[in-house]
Amino acid sequence: THCILIGAPVDCGKRRRGCLMGPDAYRTAGLAEAITALGHTVEDLGNLAPAAVEVAPHANDKVYALAENVGWTQTLMAAAQQAAPRGLPIFLGGDHALALGTVAGMAAHAQTTGRPFFALWLDAHSDIHTPNTTDSGNLHGTPVGYVIGRDGFEAFPALPARVDPANICMIGLRSVDSAEHAALLDINVDVVDMRVIDESGIRTPLAAFLDRVAAVDGMLHVSLDVDFLDPSVAPAVGTTVPGGATVREGHLVMEMLCDSGLVTSLDLVELNPFLDDRGKTASLMVDLTASLLGRRVFDRPTRSHA
Ligand code: ARG
Ligand code: MN
Ligand code: MN
Ligand code: MN
Repeated sequence: THCILIGAPVDCGKRRRGCLMGPDAYRTAGLAEAITALGHTVEDLGNLAPAAVEVAPHANDKVYALAENVGWTQTLMAAAQQAAPRGLPIFLGGDHALALGTVAGMAAHAQTTGRPFFALWLDAHSDIHTPNTTDSGNLHGTPVGYVIGRDGFEAFPALPARVDPANICMIGLRSVDSAEHAALLDINVDVVDMRVIDESGIRTPLAAFLDRVAAVDGMLHVSLDVDFLDPSVAPAVGTTVPGGATVREGHLVMEMLCDSGLVTSLDLVELNPFLDDRGKTASLMVDLTASLLGRRVFDRPTRSHA
């Protein structure tokens, strides 16, 4: 696999600063070296910058840094579409607002190939707000709302390809705002909250989703939010929520994704190196990416996840 690292130091999706250091923390933690050690090739495009745009103020005056978020969405949507035909784009965040652009861009790319597009959202949060429904005003809580075509994103680029909510699986949820809860009841997203994980294990619902993707030869975008993981093992994130995925669950997910052969793009989001403990979160994210790309303790005969 040819892996294309795309630095996206997006720090405007929320008020607390620090995610702009994320791309360099991944580089410092040895991401490129871990990938090449697995026999892949790596190309690092360096860090991108947001397009300069002007927007009218939003009706909801809580919305934070609208113009900068629109600029990043433009930039990343284009970057995703340019990189996707050449390899596996890995977007080094940056907060989750980057996914407005990366997911929209990858969905647009999938449309040109004729393959159905799917997204796996590994997160404590559902991020399905709109600029109208957000309580915090933080647009990192809105990427799913944007890519499925909810109202309220008039300032953002028109979607080249809307994502079907039925093609989105969210795993790890444990903090969902009431307006998001209402939206999720209304639409057909595959929601795997922590209770499902506790009751059935993480393997069963993930395998079911991957079977759906494989059945139609879909392209799969994975959006990995640091807060998917438990804060005890991944403290470098502004939006910690207790009771998250363990290191072992994280690696199992990544290994199953590797076995599936379906992943065509990856976001690493919400890492705030300013909050890290001797780089442990950055290193864990690098290790998880390595598992996604084939790192194993022991080789096993490749078998279907079914
Ligand atoms: N739902 C909350 C909000 O809208 C939290 C969003 C957290 N999102 C994230 N990408 N960490 O403010
Ligand atoms: Mn998120
Ligand atoms: Mn989150
Ligand atoms: Mn909120």
